[in-house]
Amino acid sequence: MVAVSTRTDPRSFVQVALGIHVFIADRTVMRDGITLAAMGLFRKKPLRTANAPEGEIHGGHVLGRHLSVRDLTFFGIAAIIGAGSFSSMGQACFSGGPGVIVLFLMCGVACGFTALCYAEFAARVPASGSAYTYAYVSFGELFAWIIGWALLMEYSIGNIYVAFSWSGYFTNLLEGLGLHLPEWLTINYRSASKAFAEGTTGEGLNAWNTAPTLGGLRIIFDLPAVMINALITWLVYTGVKESRNASNAMVIVKLAIIALVVIVGVFHVDINNWSPFMPNGFGGVMAGVSAVFFAYIGFDAVSTLAEESKDPQRDLPRGMIWSLVICTIVYIVLALVLTGMVNWSRLGVSDPLAEVFQLRGVKWMLFVVSIAAVVAMTSVMLVFQLGQPRIWMSMSRDGLLPKRFARIHPKYRTPGFSTIVTGLVVGIPIFFTDETFILDFTSIGTLFAFVLVCGGVLLLPPRPREKGRFHLPYVNSRWVAPFLFVVVASLLVLAVPSYFPGLLVIQGHAAQNIPQLVFWPLAGVLVAMAHLRQWSLIPLLGLLSCCYLLTGMAVSNWAWFAVWLLIGLCCYFAYGYRHSKLAPSRP
Ligand code: ALA
Repeated sequence: MVAVSTRTDPRSFVQVALGIHVFIADRTVMRDGITLAAMGLFRKKPLRTANAPEGEIHGGHVLGRHLSVRDLTFFGIAAIIGAGSFSSMGQACFSGGPGVIVLFLMCGVACGFTALCYAEFAARVPASGSAYTYAYVSFGELFAWIIGWALLMEYSIGNIYVAFSWSGYFTNLLEGLGLHLPEWLTINYRSASKAFAEGTTGEGLNAWNTAPTLGGLRIIFDLPAVMINALITWLVYTGVKESRNASNAMVIVKLAIIALVVIVGVFHVDINNWSPFMPNGFGGVMAGVSAVFFAYIGFDAVSTLAEESKDPQRDLPRGMIWSLVICTIVYIVLALVLTGMVNWSRLGVSDPLAEVFQLRGVKWMLFVVSIAAVVAMTSVMLVFQLGQPRIWMSMSRDGLLPKRFARIHPKYRTPGFSTIVTGLVVGIPIFFTDETFILDFTSIGTLFAFVLVCGGVLLLPPRPREKGRFHLPYVNSRWVAPFLFVVVASLLVLAVPSYFPGLLVIQGHAAQNIPQLVFWPLAGVLVAMAHLRQWSLIPLLGLLSCCYLLTGMAVSNWAWFAVWLLIGLCCYFAYGYRHSKLAPSRP
């Protein structure tokens, strides 16, 4: 801790203080009206300026419009099916049993509502910033910044998890070909030191004991994860057309292999494995939220490609919705096959798809699964690494980040600087983090962004229908929302009589109840507001279902997330607040 604080650049504190000072000064000047601070923090970008003007110049160059609805759907599938299905699904099946299918359905429905909200925004604001830009037009600058900050967790931090999982399967693949990498080059430092501290035998301890040292420090890092990150960064840097071709090819390969996994797997299903359906109760099912939700993340990344789409207002919504529908079907079938092939208790591993075939003695499938996993995860990394720079580009265009983040490479027509920074943000933590922490962190950040997107749609003014553009159907929630609320609460009381009283019982893990205790009153307030203001039902259901999924996150994750947001706010006041294009007096 001491080492960290002595290394901190004192100038950053000065900048934060300066930002807060300007903010306070503004408050003083406008003390009489609605405070200027409030106006400044919630200043909104008008819808019409949020739309990327045709051919907007970024450093003299424009992004290339190459993507059709098919490409966008493929990009969606490329981003969705990856580490979630090949790695984290195992933990979810282990904690929830076959009942994890319910969680897949719940997450699919929550993401479906959210995708419709994204689609509505994408039809109105066809700009690259995704949820960041959407929040800017609906909630104002501070929330936009917070979303941009939270999306960093989805795209960059999420890619760290994918890179680790990729490395696991890639190493298996090499082993299958008779090539062995030393353990100290296939595991992250943190996992190895943890294995040593806890005396856990296996790869971690071997890595610790065999690693070479430099100046007393053990050299342990995940080489394949570092390499794939560098490779993807280079691919994304060199052009969206190249990325599209690579992504389309990878999607075809991964869907074909998943179909093969399902076909071969079906012959090894034993329906006795589906009972008991929820061996650890509903609590066990909900414990898999991070893992299952992670599997769905990615459809929203399509919306970052607005300025590279041929007809974004028509194609982006279609691309997102199609990809989500296809992936939901794939997940449910896959979860059914997995939990049917072996008992749920055997699935708590990091490579569940390989494990089930291993246990059923279908050895030839191990190689096939490893290839599918490597291809699937490569495509996820590709799309996320495309998405992150485009969000930064939008933030920079708005003045919230330095100008160079918006600079377009003259030859490749991609946001070159932002792409390289993304590569570093993914690559550097690979050396000192581990998978579990990253998974929870990514899911909570993404759900948070989804909540704000659904909430944002509720605040949008109505717009006339236009031919060829997506239009979110309006269903008046005035009576439907209270009705559904009462039905769901009554069903819970009837089906699980201990549920509500259980929330109030203070036990050893009382803090774990807090998110649920917050959720129900919040849901009541939202339903009451929906009744009074006649809100649109679809975004309301998206908002409620994402809020509910957030309750599955452990309290410790919330604490980490709060720290992350606090750091983001410091950055905003140190730079974005003063440099924003909407600031009354820009420096
Ligand atoms: N949904 C993506 C995956 O599972 C993030 O890898």
